[in-house]
Amino acid sequence: MSLRIAHPTPAPPAPAPPAPAPPAPAAPPPPVTEWRNLPAEQQPPWPDLDAVVQVQDQLALASALTSPADVRRLGSALVHVGAARAFLLQAGDCAEPVGAAGLTAVRGKHRVIGEMAELISSHCDLPTVTVGRIAGQHAKPRSQSEETVDGQVLPVYRGDMVNAHTPEAAARVPDPWRMLTAYTTARAVLNELHLLAHERASALHRWHTADVRDLPLRAWDGSLRSVLPDYGQTSRHDGGWRHTGLWTSHEALVLDYEQGLVRRDAHTGEHYLLSTHLPWIGERTRRADGAHVAFLTAVANPVACKVGPRTSPEALTQLCARLDPHRRPGRLTLIGRFGAGQVRESLPVLSEAVRAAGHEVVWACDPMHGNTVTTADGFKTRHMSAVLDEITGFFEVMYGSGQWPGGVHLEIAGDHVTECLDADGPRNEAGLGRAYRTLCDPRLNDRQALLAAQTVSELIVKG
Ligand code: PEP
Ligand code: CO
Repeated sequence: MSLRIAHPTPAPPAPAPPAPAPPAPAAPPPPVTEWRNLPAEQQPPWPDLDAVVQVQDQLALASALTSPADVRRLGSALVHVGAARAFLLQAGDCAEPVGAAGLTAVRGKHRVIGEMAELISSHCDLPTVTVGRIAGQHAKPRSQSEETVDGQVLPVYRGDMVNAHTPEAAARVPDPWRMLTAYTTARAVLNELHLLAHERASALHRWHTADVRDLPLRAWDGSLRSVLPDYGQTSRHDGGWRHTGLWTSHEALVLDYEQGLVRRDAHTGEHYLLSTHLPWIGERTRRADGAHVAFLTAVANPVACKVGPRTSPEALTQLCARLDPHRRPGRLTLIGRFGAGQVRESLPVLSEAVRAAGHEVVWACDPMHGNTVTTADGFKTRHMSAVLDEITGFFEVMYGSGQWPGGVHLEIAGDHVTECLDADGPRNEAGLGRAYRTLCDPRLNDRQALLAAQTVSELIVKG
């Protein structure tokens, strides 16, 4: 099955029905800057507000990183996911580094996510839509404003967009100019993703016809799908499922940065957030009357929102009404992150409330953020058993209530890190230090990621 067809073939004309009452005009989205009047959680305490304004001026003149056309194509793919015709695989770093380190990690993540997607698609005979936590995942919400490293109390690390990971007081001072470094890195990462997709497509094409001359290799024009029709998903080649390209996503956290990359689409008049394809808001920034929700309400991208175990059905339906006021399939992805011990209890009530309120959302499972533990040595880690148990619980609840378990959202590395325990990771806590390289939360390594994909594919088939 291919997701190439974004619009169904029109049915033959039927006899004209009596003229219906004209639909009430859809309320226009609020102005993109409405968020400025609302409480904004988790914003960096910038010490130099003049520099923030200068950076915003530069971002406003910078090239957009994505295009409205590609953002809409991802939206169409998510419609297919919502209708149980495809599966969503969203994965990547908890916090991406800026600079060269961010760029060199791209190939590994593209490879691992591609292998996971091919595994799921081959096992289930279903396209997998792939979205990286990539090309912009540079800012982190934190539970505390300070942390203790080697006995020293420091301002907390808030992601490379804001301050440096180096455990020194000076490095932890938020620096607005880092927003420009984050932008430049995201641009380079996107370019790298584009090159990888072409490399992959030319390999697929070679397997197909042994003739690469027909491949439409073109210069970067900001629109990926116009060049590669199966970009950001698996598709069939010679009877097998093959993967090309990643859509991008990140947590739209630092609003001074995100605002600088909103652009108006001249064709439709809508505003798009062109720092990414799929922005999401997190468990700490999703209050319905807050700035982050207002910001995402004003843009036409598909958007996602994390949902934790303390969410009430009323709060969630209020949030859905804000983020998906027109009940548009493909618009809203809800990413449950309940914890293995909570998912079976929390998700049934919440998913039923969303369904009853008429929102056709994609439900995805983040089995990472509700299952983090800290060892005696101070390493944050996750047990594969808990990760796989939450995924299993998610499938049980969704299938049990006649709903499609639309996707998974994972933190993964593209190589063999030692950050999560068991199953092709360290067997015990003593092994965590060997290759513990994350800037924030512990990620599955390449083999653990494939095991998660294997589990997902078996659960999909089991139904
Ligand atoms: C994250 O995705 O890295 C994150 C911080 O998630 P959450 O908002 O669910 O805690
Ligand atoms: Co994380």
